[in-house]
Amino acid sequence: MAKQSVKQLAEIIAAAAVVIPVVVYRVHARLAGVERAFPGWSQLLSLLPGLVGVYLRRAFYRMVLPTCGRDVCISFGTVFSHPTASIGNRVYLGVGCMIGDVTLEDDALVGSHVSIINGRRQHGIERLDIPVREQPGEYPRVVIGEDSWIGDRAIVTADLGKHCVVGAGSVVTKAVPDFAIVVGNPARIKGFREASSAAAAVAAAAASPIRTAAVADADLSTK
Ligand SMILES: CC(C)(COP(=O)(O)OP(=O)(O)OC[C@H]1O[C@@H](n2cnc3c(N)ncnc32)[C@H](O)[C@@H]1OP(=O)(O)O)[C@@H](O)C(=O)NCCC(=O)NCCS
Repeated sequence: MAKQSVKQLAEIIAAAAVVIPVVVYRVHARLAGVERAFPGWSQLLSLLPGLVGVYLRRAFYRMVLPTCGRDVCISFGTVFSHPTASIGNRVYLGVGCMIGDVTLEDDALVGSHVSIINGRRQHGIERLDIPVREQPGEYPRVVIGEDSWIGDRAIVTADLGKHCVVGAGSVVTKAVPDFAIVVGNPARIKGFREASSAAAAVAAAAASPIRTAAVADADLSTK
């Protein structure tokens, strides 16, 4: 009970402390455009260390993002690049993450130095007469499903379903179904946290975005 009260008091103090930065940010956003203004503020806030940083970032993002839930922990060095990011309740982000235009559903758990980027085609590469940086690309929004866990240094470029696990250092290039455990580069399904999901995935082999070893074996056995 006492701990809860201290926490609530700290949240009130943090909210008061970020009022002026939020006002300055809004003026900056009005003058420069919100997409231009936001990343710099996220970078600045990411530099605040320890628990003080966690509380101040939470308070700031609650005021400026469309959604930032309860008991969110955004660690040192973690930067959001878009003001449209959405953070559910009890989301945890480790140190040094780079987060794009992403929805993080409730209880998403993201390790350290994870990048969640908007797809794989931020730039066109078809033309050779102009540099890649000048070629327009695509930025599909990425959703990290409820209770999904992303290991350290993973790169996620596509949606994760609910209750997924992404191994440390993995590179997710295609959407991952609910309950899947994926590892490697490119990430492949190693199993499911729920047996019925595995059965469903085998049944839906043709439609499965990432093919499991079991599905691949099943395919091979029919040829
Ligand atoms: C994905 C993970 C949860 C799997 O753990 P597990 O269920 O104990 O899995 P196992 O160790 O039994 O490994 C199963 C297989 O996947 C492989 N594997 C496990 N993690 C892997 C990874 N990150 N990358 C590539 N392969 C991996 C194993 O080598 C093994 O392969 P094999 O079947 O060919 O022998 C774990 O390895 C992991 O990466 N955890 C994240 C840790 C982390 O980043 N913590 C900090 C953030 S909170």
